[in-house]
Amino acid sequence: MNTDINAVERRQFDTLIIGAGGGGLRASLQLAEAELNVAVVSKVFPTRSHTVAAQGGMNAALANVSPDNWHWHMFDTVKGSDYLGDQDAIEYMCRAAPKAVYELEHFGVPFSRLDNGKIYQRAFGGQSQNFGGDQAARTCAAADRTGHAILHSLYQQNIRARTHFFDEYFAVDLLKDDEGHVLGALVFNIHDGKIVVIEAKTTLLATGGAGQLFKTTTNALINTGDGMGMAMRAGIPLQDMEFFQFHPTGIAGRGMLITEGARGEGGYLVNGDGERLMERYAPKAKDLASRDVVSRAIAVEVREGRGCGPNKDHVMLKLDHLGEDVIQKRLPGIRQTCITFLGIDPAEAPIPVFPTAHYTMGGIPTNRYGQVVVPVKDTPEEPVAGLYAAGECACVSVHGGNRLGGNSLLDILVFGRAAANHIIKYLKENKYHRIIDDAVIKKVVEKVNRFDRVTTGSETVAGLRNELKQVMEEHCSVFRNKEILQQGVAKVESIAARMKDVSIDDQSHTFNTARVEAFELENLMAVALATIHSANAREESRGAHSRTDFTERDDKSWMRHSLYSFENGLDYKPVRTKPMSVESFPPKPRVY
Ligand code: FUM
Repeated sequence: MNTDINAVERRQFDTLIIGAGGGGLRASLQLAEAELNVAVVSKVFPTRSHTVAAQGGMNAALANVSPDNWHWHMFDTVKGSDYLGDQDAIEYMCRAAPKAVYELEHFGVPFSRLDNGKIYQRAFGGQSQNFGGDQAARTCAAADRTGHAILHSLYQQNIRARTHFFDEYFAVDLLKDDEGHVLGALVFNIHDGKIVVIEAKTTLLATGGAGQLFKTTTNALINTGDGMGMAMRAGIPLQDMEFFQFHPTGIAGRGMLITEGARGEGGYLVNGDGERLMERYAPKAKDLASRDVVSRAIAVEVREGRGCGPNKDHVMLKLDHLGEDVIQKRLPGIRQTCITFLGIDPAEAPIPVFPTAHYTMGGIPTNRYGQVVVPVKDTPEEPVAGLYAAGECACVSVHGGNRLGGNSLLDILVFGRAAANHIIKYLKENKYHRIIDDAVIKKVVEKVNRFDRVTTGSETVAGLRNELKQVMEEHCSVFRNKEILQQGVAKVESIAARMKDVSIDDQSHTFNTARVEAFELENLMAVALATIHSANAREESRGAHSRTDFTERDDKSWMRHSLYSFENGLDYKPVRTKPMSVESFPPKPRVY
């Protein structure tokens, strides 16, 4: 590893995008088409980014299957968020949704079709017609491989538009000057370890979520909260990290996703007594209540001894009544997953399921233009010059305390595009690169070099990572209370403190991937600290944050966003309850 910073390769771009999932690639496409010089850095080949794993679909009020409009979608999203979502951003997203879907169609996404040729839309949880009325069918799907279809189409469009890709490069840290401008990032090539300084007038973080915080998760190994870790080290707080979504239907004990689309197509959950359990928890919406509600219901059934299997530790998702034709046409991916990993064909037998860590509702605070915003003096938020974030690593906040299924693909596409549009404007007024002080680069180079040789500390990356995941699973899961959370805080703090003693294995052929894992762990540690501290402090139950010692939502004290930073610990800022153009939806009891 080279320590001479004058010998470090330097490249210049108008915009650096870190992360090649749907948010990053939607933004890069918009920028490349505006003739800007844009680089996308991805630690995996772009089409392996986690968007590829999205199954059920993307919400937009197209009204192809049931009557619909964006305002009903907005209502469902605000209610789903347990009134913590910012209503200006939610209005913006729901209004923009139909256009975002039609754009994708024109990029070549092969959506499933209705007999009349229109885009197929399925029912998903928490969706209603007419502000809480009948179930809506709002989720636009390409069978159960919607993310795969979208990511591949976006990648192809980016190749056509000549986006510059740095494939299999790992971004270590942001570069920031004394005046607080973000000037790009330092990255290294995972193949040969070579460091590159990417100087950029604007930088967009689009690194996805942090599902690897938990032992059982739907998330890929790559989802280690890298952008969130980088932001925290650059002095930016993380917002609403206590809200982590547990998807109701992960394969029991393994965590792989069985799409909510399975229930949207008519599947339902049964307990060990053969009862349709959701009839008791959500009499109207039943299996299509919102995710936090269904996950809690499953956890209660198991806790109260009504689980299935020899250990009564899961429930069953029944699909066999749908018939093989429907399953093969609408859910071919999950059918294959069940056959491969469980030896079960869902056309014939039910699937064992249990809630599994799925989605980071919190993240890097942004406004609806994708600008990263931080509190400055007495203001709740001021943009960080040159820095943007979009998608799961960001918190804009459209999901608040609980995200609706199908709003994640929508979020990445709408806010990836919005961030790019703001960047285009910003660059018209900020035409030149700012000078990066050598000392700024030197600091990150030294950090990279910390892991450039076999180190001999007493801790291993795998050991600390497994401990962290176990602690988060036990202390920050579907149900929480003071005792469990306080123990969790102490354990996470102590694991994080041992990070300084971590060693890298002497495996020359895997050396750079071992280094990547060490940096990923550093990011996970930052995100874990933000998550467990924010959860410990929030003394109410809202959305996915469900406390057995504070069982009610407390709008008087807690209708506010949390912010956690290394420098200041916890802070709070108000929820933006005022939409852009319509009346706001005031908080109400949330029943389904
Ligand atoms: O269940 C699913 O297909 C997941 C969708 C989502 O998280 O939006």
